[in-house]
Amino acid sequence: MTTRKILVTSALPYANGSIHLGHLVEYIQTDIWVRFQKMQGHEVNYVCADDTHGTPIMLRAEAEGITPEALIARVWQEHYDDFAAFHVAFDHYGSTNSNETKEFAQGIYRKLKAANLIEVRSIEQYYDPVKNMFLPDRFIKGECPKCHAKDQYGDNCEVCGAAYAPIELINPYSAVSGAKPEMRNSDHYFFKLSADTCQQFLRSWTRSGSLQPEAANKMQEWLGAEGENKLSDWDISRDAPYFGFEIPDAPGKYFYVWLDAPVGYMGSFKQLCNSQTENGKPKTVLDFEEYWKPDSTTELYHFIGKDILYFHALFWPAMLEHSGFRTPTKLFAHGFLTVNGEKMSKSRGTFITAKSYIDNIKNTEYLRYYYAAKINGTMEDLDLNLDDFVAKVNSDLIGKYINIASRCAGFIAKKFDGKLGATDAAAAAEFQSAYQDGAIAHCYEQRDFARALREIMRLADVANQYIAEQKPWELAKQEGREADLHVACSTAMTLFRDLTLYLKPVLPVLAEQVEAFLNIVPLAWNSDWQALPAGHLINTYQHLATRLDPKLVEAMTAANLESLKPVTESHSQTRHAVAQQPLPAPQPLKDEGANAIAPLISIEDFSKIDLRVAKIVNAEHVTGAEKLLKLTLDIGEEQPRTVFAGIKSAYDPELLKGRMTVMVANLAPRKMKFGLSEGMVLAASGDAPGLFILSPDDGAQPGMRIK
Ligand code: 2FM
Ligand code: ZN
Repeated sequence: MTTRKILVTSALPYANGSIHLGHLVEYIQTDIWVRFQKMQGHEVNYVCADDTHGTPIMLRAEAEGITPEALIARVWQEHYDDFAAFHVAFDHYGSTNSNETKEFAQGIYRKLKAANLIEVRSIEQYYDPVKNMFLPDRFIKGECPKCHAKDQYGDNCEVCGAAYAPIELINPYSAVSGAKPEMRNSDHYFFKLSADTCQQFLRSWTRSGSLQPEAANKMQEWLGAEGENKLSDWDISRDAPYFGFEIPDAPGKYFYVWLDAPVGYMGSFKQLCNSQTENGKPKTVLDFEEYWKPDSTTELYHFIGKDILYFHALFWPAMLEHSGFRTPTKLFAHGFLTVNGEKMSKSRGTFITAKSYIDNIKNTEYLRYYYAAKINGTMEDLDLNLDDFVAKVNSDLIGKYINIASRCAGFIAKKFDGKLGATDAAAAAEFQSAYQDGAIAHCYEQRDFARALREIMRLADVANQYIAEQKPWELAKQEGREADLHVACSTAMTLFRDLTLYLKPVLPVLAEQVEAFLNIVPLAWNSDWQALPAGHLINTYQHLATRLDPKLVEAMTAANLESLKPVTESHSQTRHAVAQQPLPAPQPLKDEGANAIAPLISIEDFSKIDLRVAKIVNAEHVTGAEKLLKLTLDIGEEQPRTVFAGIKSAYDPELLKGRMTVMVANLAPRKMKFGLSEGMVLAASGDAPGLFILSPDDGAQPGMRIK
């Protein structure tokens, strides 16, 4: 077998949001494929990085009162830990905010410029006169020009789905400061994707087999018919203030985050090459040039979500081709995650973070197994049905696979001092041929893990059938049947070893435990099949995995129940939905009418108001009250307070229980029709529908003073 040299990437997650189960579809998928290729003996390098630039990250850091560098360092660690917990084994996990990425981004830009593929044009764009910055479309809000819904983003309406330009919004306002934006001109730098050379290259690249059939069709749509020029030039610059890399010889102009994001694949790989040292000297085995030169014989694969196909199938290969680098061998695009058949939703607790899975369920290989059972290498969406998740883990993983070892291993220890006997050749034959005809390996290679697992579970059924026929538990009780018992249990150990080999790309940690238990060298795919030999000593069987308790899944969804937003809201579910959310938008600033800013007060005036962190220990409807909920609030006093709050229209009392909020603690008690109200809970409202109670940051305790 020839050793392939393969470089694999997963899309770089944005550095301003948590990893959630939607992200993990991609990283788990890539990791399984990488592990499989490594087990085949190929040279595989899997790199990724945090995607650290752009306006949302800049503004989030500002809102937190820290530098963008501090923000991205913190998030990097969180992402790194989450991936490690799910056993996603990058060879290197970097950051796009690195010297390596900067040099490649600037170098590519210079090459594109030299090839006459960069053009400067003045464009008109909304500008925030309070923040002194140009506003990306997602940071402008206003009334939808089609359905007149309020507070819609500058590029599309979430209510009616219409797409439009920010200029079409009615009463636009800056989502950063609330100010009315002004139109201003600015020079922007464009990558001339519409140039003939790009069009021609992309047409031939589309036909080169680098795309899945669905993706190739999409490309045809984007490119249009032969002779048609449907591609627009790509705006690759953003004006200061911006967190990113400056464009060479263009002061105050920065590369748009999507220019340097894919370059981060190169930057991260370069860091990996640089980090390979031996006795303190650079090792020459991993050669950046060899992987990225135009005529490279190595393979380059990008695993991505279908939402970012446009960037990876058009911009990225065109950039590489025209700056003297190789282009990707293949893009592997996948669909989105749904949970229980619907978009992930905070109000249903199905917008599940990696961290909450780790905290509640702990065994992350269960999810790897479930995802693998559904991943088939296409761009179809994948559904995580939580009941099915529990059922599948328990029936397949525990019921069919682990049970083989747990039913037979004890006899080897007890009756045969841990030594294996002969193998039943007939029983092992099917496993041997499964290995040799390569069907399972083929499914892994094609990223059809679902089919691979179906085949593996079919073999597990064969193994279980054998054990059911042999009945070792009965043989153990019968005089003179030791030899049969020994063969049955030893054969079961070989079959268990084989199933473990097949499952190892999906369940790497469990496989390691099995290797230790069976006392064998790490399982790899590139050797001849042999039964475990007679006389081989195995270790005492320790519990390998337990059934998944559905209560853990319930606890996980409860932990993800969003109490910050009104109960009906669900989030748009692209893989990176969270990361792309701009900061919570302020309402437009108004200077007249009822909403005018109130007259100035002194700090002494303000300090008369005693604001406290309150824990909502109970919330309930009030019979006969149209607008009120009855809240029981703990502010660290001996007795909790009762407060009637007019928030019934926006909150389900069940979802309020246990959350923290803010109350005015020294407001004179008020006798109401339904009882005494001992304070007031604060809530925001504006012209747009909705009522929003406040929440302190994590860590605040009941009774803390707010000042
Ligand atoms: O969509 C996203 O989450 C982007 N941060 C992906 C970037 S992938 C690559 F181009 F870097
Ligand atoms: Zn609309």
